[in-house]
Amino acid sequence: MLKLTGVHTFYGNVEALKGIDLEVNQGEIVCLIGNNGAGKSTTLMTISGILRPVKGEILFEAESIKNTPPHKIVEKGISQVPEGRRIFPKLTVRENLEMGAFSEKGNFDEMLKRIFTLFPVLKERQNQIGGTLSGGEQQMLAISRALMSFPKLLLLDEPSLGLAPIIVNKIFMTIKEINKEGVTILLVEQNAMAALKLSHRGYVIENGRIAFEGESKFLLNNEKVRKAYLGD
Ligand SMILES: Nc1ncnc2c1ncn2[C@@H]1O[C@H](COP(=O)(O)OP(=O)(O)OP(=O)(O)O)[C@@H](O)[C@H]1O
Ligand SMILES: [Mg+2]
Repeated sequence: MLKLTGVHTFYGNVEALKGIDLEVNQGEIVCLIGNNGAGKSTTLMTISGILRPVKGEILFEAESIKNTPPHKIVEKGISQVPEGRRIFPKLTVRENLEMGAFSEKGNFDEMLKRIFTLFPVLKERQNQIGGTLSGGEQQMLAISRALMSFPKLLLLDEPSLGLAPIIVNKIFMTIKEINKEGVTILLVEQNAMAALKLSHRGYVIENGRIAFEGESKFLLNNEKVRKAYLGD
C-alpha cells in the first residue's frame, strides 16, 4: 500500500532522513520506533507531504506521492495525527470533528456514529470546548478528527505521549479496533514495548536510518532491540 525507497529529507543543511526504506501492506499495523530525534516525525511528515524528500520515492497504492500537495494526499486516503495532539482548542468537540470532514467523502453522520462508538466519552462531551478536555480525551479527539476524512492509511505520531498507562492502554485498544474495521496503520512511538505488542511488523530508526526491521514478535525477542529499546 505504501512504499518508501531511499528517502532523504533535509531541514536546511541538516539531513534528518538518510535513505529510509519502509513498506506498509494493506491491513497491517506497522510501528516505527526510535529515540528522540531519530527521525520518526520527519518520516511521517514526509509521507503526508508536509516535508519533501530531496531524494527517493514514495508510492501510495503504486502511485508516486512525493510531489503531491498535502491536501491531495489526504484525499487519496492518508491522514495524519500529528505529535502533541494538535486539536483546535477553542472549538467544541463536534466542531473539531467537522473540521476533519472537509473532504466530503462518505457520510459525516455515519462516521460520527462510528467515532462515538469507538470513543463514547466524545459523544458525552460533543459540546465541550476542545481545550478543556483531558490529555487522553484530546488524543481521542485528534484520532477521531483524522478518521473523519475516511482514511485508508492512518499515520499516528506518538499517541501515548504524556498519558497515564491506563489511558495509553485504552488508546492502543482503540487503534487495534480501528485497524480491524479496515484502516491500515503506521504508528510512531517511543513506547517501544507497547508499540511492538500492538503491531504486526516494526521498524527501528536510528539517526535517520532504519537499524532493524521485522515481525514485531521477532523484534521483541531481538537481543539488541531489547537492550537498546526495551530496557533489558
Ligand atoms: N524544524 C526543524 N529544523 C531543523 N532540524 C529539525 C527540525 N525538526 C526536526 N529536526 C531535526 O531532525 C531530526 C529528526 O527529528 P524528528 O522530529 O523527526 O525526530 P523524532 O524521532 O520524531 O523525535 P521525537 O521522539 O523527539 O519526537 C532531529 O535531529 C531534529 O533535531
Ligand atoms: Mg517526533
